[in-house]
Amino acid sequence: MLGSARRFKPNSETEDVPLRSRKRVQGSRAVEAALNTGDLLTNPADPRRIKAALPANHPGRRVRESIRVNQRQAKPIAPYLGGKRNLAQRVCRIIDANEHTTYAEPFVGMGGIFLRRRYPAKSEYINDLNGEVYTLFRVLQEHYVAFLDLLRFQITTQQNFNRLLQVDPDTLTDLQRAARFLYLQRCAFGGKVTGRSFGVSADRPARFNLTTLEPDLEALHSRLSGVTVMRLDFGSFIQRIDRSETLFYLDPPYWGSEEDYGRGSFSRERFGELADQLSGIRGRFLLSINDVPEIREMFSWAHQSPVRTSYSVARAGRGATASELLISNFYPGGESSLA
Ligand SMILES: C[S@@+](CC[C@H](N)C(=O)[O-])C[C@H]1O[C@@H](n2cnc3c(N)ncnc32)[C@H](O)[C@@H]1O
Repeated sequence: MLGSARRFKPNSETEDVPLRSRKRVQGSRAVEAALNTGDLLTNPADPRRIKAALPANHPGRRVRESIRVNQRQAKPIAPYLGGKRNLAQRVCRIIDANEHTTYAEPFVGMGGIFLRRRYPAKSEYINDLNGEVYTLFRVLQEHYVAFLDLLRFQITTQQNFNRLLQVDPDTLTDLQRAARFLYLQRCAFGGKVTGRSFGVSADRPARFNLTTLEPDLEALHSRLSGVTVMRLDFGSFIQRIDRSETLFYLDPPYWGSEEDYGRGSFSRERFGELADQLSGIRGRFLLSINDVPEIREMFSWAHQSPVRTSYSVARAGRGATASELLISNFYPGGESSLA
């Protein structure tokens, strides 16, 4: 309830400019156009244009500020090992070009692809077996205001990081659990999920700073509205969501790094299960994975496009390049096969 109330009155700056007086402050066409831009995800208003159109001290400047905050494109709010940063453009182009009414991700992680697509589907499902990931998304959806309050006085210190690492998340409330995970994930070296260490970089500001993080949290909270968040093993999730109009994007753990996300959640044998299941689904799927002969063999019945990408520092050292495979049960178009 709290969450949806906030969506319609996103912050105090909007609240103290009631609708009627907002009309008055929209004397400028640029402001009016910006307020009516429709699809905020794909066509955000340009705050610089609005600023230029308003005289100094004009009350509409407050409206402009709230547009800037509320229309920000949602993005992953923490680094995540295997987050698809380098491959995202190519993968999203394929997804965006293939019409679908239902979009589903069985291995969503921090949403590196889910959040970078241009066009949200009519119905959207995200899933991850990791309880921390699931709790963070659910808390952002349902308890956004209370969550922000809890984060308000956190600062980045190694001592705090080490203290939180020792805490068993099962002993925490959902709010505390989500806050702990977000803090650790933002501060950890290389977005690692297990075996984390405190990340230090000489050329970046502190990694946990609510002043800069809050607009991103707000954007993600809005983006998650209407999205179904689940915590199932991938097999049950795919079975439940599979329809002829479903498009799945799958980003399982890499071959050879099956336990990067915790003991027991994935194992090498599970790739075979996944391939078997995907060979019989009614919907379409696109899967990205490291390019190894075993995976090529398992998915020999599917369309395969090798792509070059660079791996993160945590995975293979700075700037290391690698081959990945995009596998699908439809022809993904020319873009995907660019090396
Ligand atoms: C490579 S990561 C996904 C990264 C994601 N694409 C992103 O951009 O952040 C793989 C994810 O699969 C999840 N996972 C591992 N085993 C799973 C299983 N059996 N069922 C569902 N999710 C699983 C992990 O928790 C992890 O978040």
